[in-house]
Amino acid sequence: MTDIDKSKLSWDEWDELQNPPPAETDFDRIVEAALSRRGFLGGILAMGSAAAAMGTLGTAANLMSSTSAQAQEAAASRFAFKPIPIFTDNTVHVPEGYSWKPLAKWGQPLFSNISDIDPATGVSLENSDKVFGENTDGMELFVIGEHQIIAVNHEYVNNEINLPNNEKGMPKNADEVKILQNLQGVTVMEVAEGENGWEIVLDSPFNRRITHLTPMKISGPAAGSDLIKTEADPNGTDCLGTFNNCGAGKTPWGTYLTCEENFNGYFGSTNPNFAMPDDFKRYGIVAETRYGYEAFDPRFDVSKNPNEPRRAGYVVEIDPSDASSTPVKRTALGRIKHENAAVVIARDGRVVVYMGDDERGEFLYKYVSNGIYVPGGDTSKLLDEGTLFVAKFSDDGNGEWLALTPETTGMKMDEICVFTRQAASKVGATTMDRPEWVAINPVAIEAYCALTNNSRRGEIKDGKLRTNAGGDEMSVGGPNPREKNEYGQIVRWYPENDDHADGKFKWDLFVMAGNPDVHKGDAYAGSSNINSGNMFNSPDGMIFDSTGLLWIQTDGEDTNEADFAGQGNNQMLAGDPATGRIERFLTGPLGCEVTGLIWSADRRTMFVGIQHPNAPFPDGEGKLPRSTLIAVKREDGALIG
Ligand code: FEO
Ligand code: CA
Ligand code: CA
Repeated sequence: MTDIDKSKLSWDEWDELQNPPPAETDFDRIVEAALSRRGFLGGILAMGSAAAAMGTLGTAANLMSSTSAQAQEAAASRFAFKPIPIFTDNTVHVPEGYSWKPLAKWGQPLFSNISDIDPATGVSLENSDKVFGENTDGMELFVIGEHQIIAVNHEYVNNEINLPNNEKGMPKNADEVKILQNLQGVTVMEVAEGENGWEIVLDSPFNRRITHLTPMKISGPAAGSDLIKTEADPNGTDCLGTFNNCGAGKTPWGTYLTCEENFNGYFGSTNPNFAMPDDFKRYGIVAETRYGYEAFDPRFDVSKNPNEPRRAGYVVEIDPSDASSTPVKRTALGRIKHENAAVVIARDGRVVVYMGDDERGEFLYKYVSNGIYVPGGDTSKLLDEGTLFVAKFSDDGNGEWLALTPETTGMKMDEICVFTRQAASKVGATTMDRPEWVAINPVAIEAYCALTNNSRRGEIKDGKLRTNAGGDEMSVGGPNPREKNEYGQIVRWYPENDDHADGKFKWDLFVMAGNPDVHKGDAYAGSSNINSGNMFNSPDGMIFDSTGLLWIQTDGEDTNEADFAGQGNNQMLAGDPATGRIERFLTGPLGCEVTGLIWSADRRTMFVGIQHPNAPFPDGEGKLPRSTLIAVKREDGALIG
């Protein structure tokens, strides 16, 4: 040590000399508590926790060095790309040997008789339901005969660019409200690869926009309930529109599931003295909105239509094979701020749907159908008749699914489906760090949920521990092991009896995101599969490819400063469930969120969503930022997942 010239050390090296990491770090203790089932993990080196469990302060590097050369080679071969560094610029980057190209941009026509967007005026009312909407998000690809059909969500609008001549983009009349309503929802479009790469097939009979105004059916236990009846729909079975469509899902019978997330933001009150119903508080429904619909469309004015917000917040099933079909809101899957809907078939053929509720301290859910899925059989009731469960995690690595039934909650079935958060609070579910996408491994019986962050976990305010809006405490522990968690983590669970319908599971953490350059030796450095070269924050979109590689997309801080220094723009990484190794594959333009991922039928193209870039992307300097779906290919034409 005496030989060291301290002036040559980096800050981190110097800091480590002054403050050597303790033999047992907070991270070790957290992981120890979170993962007391080393035997269960068997020979799998699951992230740094395995290193921690072995009593070392693990890093990805020493984790790898502890494996055999052969295993290292096998692990390396799971990633068919050379990882890329961070970027902070205004475009997309992919690894050497890969290329990308826009496929569909906000405002781009789906039909040949209309022109591309005019940035000076935005999209006209006439064209607003015939173009690719804004803020691309979750999506799925369907192969129907010879056709490849993408169903893709448009989560919300940026008022300012859609109504560029209005102050703060707020609508000034009913027509302007309609423009905003039309640019959100879902696009169903046929795509094809030709000489110019992937393009929308204009005028395809599959092409369709589903908006805030599209007629829908309501099914399941809340259909016909007094809780959701309105003057316009006295039967409580027919509604208009799907809202804040975030993540997605796909059924084995070929339908698309679009998930209504922050639906509360569209419903306001023109009467400041209107007494909001008690249940509105849990979902954050307040008088003032950022879209201003309520001033010109009374359906969104809760002082006139107090039941209307209870008709949103569901998973909606869409048949992409028939552009004239009526979407169905499946109330049996609960009313929450739905992130995505990950569908898997249980051992006995029942349909299981995992769903996160993205809000601080809300819960993780699972639906299990009563009936079984029979290919070619009647699937119309599979998402109407079943049981909704909510997850309870124990600190010892066990967990259970708590059923939400009249017996367990004291609530009627329609109440459970409309006030799902309240029902889950009654059974003592675990408050989570904002559950985003759930992804199900196609080659192992396990599922993963991105817990994006939770800056308020463990925080004390006015002498009390912070809670969710229902009063459930956000204490530190289990799969939410850090207070003021600004980086996020990914929890995974292994159903008992290798059956996704089972009521019990084991769990561990696949990764805790963090910043090992800024934080040394504490939990905010992240788990040991996080290093200076692959770090990120706020995992959000997540999907497995057919080979069992987990693709992780981020929606986080991209300041590249302070706690986020070295993390660059939002990005997409690939993770190997077997080794815990994570590598960066793509970075997005400044300000964007990378969200939504699917593959072409031949798996030679990957489609990735670039949402709300805060940069002149993809058209270049001086042009408006446009949310864009891009196509990524290997230049040698090989498979890409
Ligand atoms: Fe729309 Fe929770 O992301
Ligand atoms: Ca998301
Ligand atoms: Ca997010």
